[in-house]
Amino acid sequence: MTKIITKNWGVKDSHLLSVARANGVYSNLERVLKTPIAPKDVVEAVKKSGLRGRGGAGFPAGMKWSFVPQNTGKPIYLCVNADESEPGTNKDREILERDPHLMIEGALIAAWAIGCRTVFFYIRGEFDLPERRIRAAAEEAMKAGIVGDNVMGSGWSCDFIVHRGAGAYICGEETGLISSLEGGRGEPKIKPPFPAVKGAFGCPTVVNNVETLCAVPWIMEHGGEAYAKIGTEKSPGTKVISVSGRVKRPGNYEIPLGYGLKDLIDNECGGMQDGYRLKAVIPGGSSVPVMKPEQVATLKLDYESCQAHGTFLGSAGCIVVDHTQDMVKLLHVLARFYSHESCGQCTPCREGTGWAYRILTKIVQGRGTKKDIDTLRSLTQQMDGATICALASALVMPVQSFLKQFPEEFEAKVQETVPA
Ligand SMILES: Cc1cc2nc3c(=O)[nH]c(=O)nc-3n(C[C@H](O)[C@H](O)[C@H](O)COP(=O)(O)O)c2cc1C
Ligand code: SF4
Repeated sequence: MTKIITKNWGVKDSHLLSVARANGVYSNLERVLKTPIAPKDVVEAVKKSGLRGRGGAGFPAGMKWSFVPQNTGKPIYLCVNADESEPGTNKDREILERDPHLMIEGALIAAWAIGCRTVFFYIRGEFDLPERRIRAAAEEAMKAGIVGDNVMGSGWSCDFIVHRGAGAYICGEETGLISSLEGGRGEPKIKPPFPAVKGAFGCPTVVNNVETLCAVPWIMEHGGEAYAKIGTEKSPGTKVISVSGRVKRPGNYEIPLGYGLKDLIDNECGGMQDGYRLKAVIPGGSSVPVMKPEQVATLKLDYESCQAHGTFLGSAGCIVVDHTQDMVKLLHVLARFYSHESCGQCTPCREGTGWAYRILTKIVQGRGTKKDIDTLRSLTQQMDGATICALASALVMPVQSFLKQFPEEFEAKVQETVPA
């Protein structure tokens, strides 16, 4: 299988500049700047590749870049989204630990393409080693003339600023990230205007996920068409999938999009651990509908197949659930997470996530009634689509799908009525 993002992971000290350069990192940046390949041609190549954003929404990267208005007289910014906090998703962390220079190379090519001279790298507060790795890499790259003034002797300059968050899931949402970067509370904003038009400090801003940008050097080396040939027609390229749960070899695996989820579990992950049976998989990080084994058997890891199965690829953190796990308790944990992480601006999200958590607490503690299940269902129906950002829906989808797929587990825990 073609490795694009993880190709240097087996190499000793792959995070060091000398090793990265020996692996070919920065050669594509150098070629882009020295040829030079015009920014619009870089955008065109990425458009041709069909590369879709790997942060969860799957929006085409080249198209996003082409929305950035040039000649407004304002600076243009690139924000790298390294806030990775989606439960079950650990890919960006490993990319940053193992190949931070590939990340910087991708960001600089993107910056060149959109006319940006300042890259903000927004990293999750809890990411200690990844932050040390990216800071050290940026420092090494600056000393080597790769970041900062006169990048690689090209006459073009671009700064790379690392900004550490304070550990809030909502700062991964692009407008929340920008608010936090500006020094405000990490509160999402209503779109439009989209960041590409009015983003950081009121200026045009592209926000891209770590993994998205790491695919760019390969696209510049091999061409957009070559990238588009990997994966499926509508989901081109490769994807790093995080697999957690009781499989024999959990971890991050780079696969061509369209690869079977069951094949990934059985082959790359070595199957379920001895004594454990597959009960379910949440395939896209915790914010998407859960799949039962018969759905897992036919689900392909690409945007279309996931949608056809009634779920989403999201950030592709596959949470494997085994037969010993209690779905009600699992949902209870998720509800606590979303309730805690809600920024509180929208009533349906602030009140709804907390209410769902309290109902599930009652059910888990054996104090729930059948009416509580109905309330959970109708409550989440009213939360969906009624908020500024998608955090509320990120709880709605697991709640509704858990209730639909595993109703017996909820019913077994409640009573007709609880005596006063
Ligand atoms: C609640 C919430 C949390 C998010 N967290 C992340 C995150 O941690 N990392 C990320 O790249 N995108 C995250 N996103 C998606 C971003 O808003 C945005 O779509 C993404 O960074 C764009 O980059 P891409 O086009 O390269 O995927 C989140 C979205 C929502 C609604
Ligand atoms: S949906 Fe939730 S997290 Fe998003 S802006 Fe509204 S209150 Fe904040």
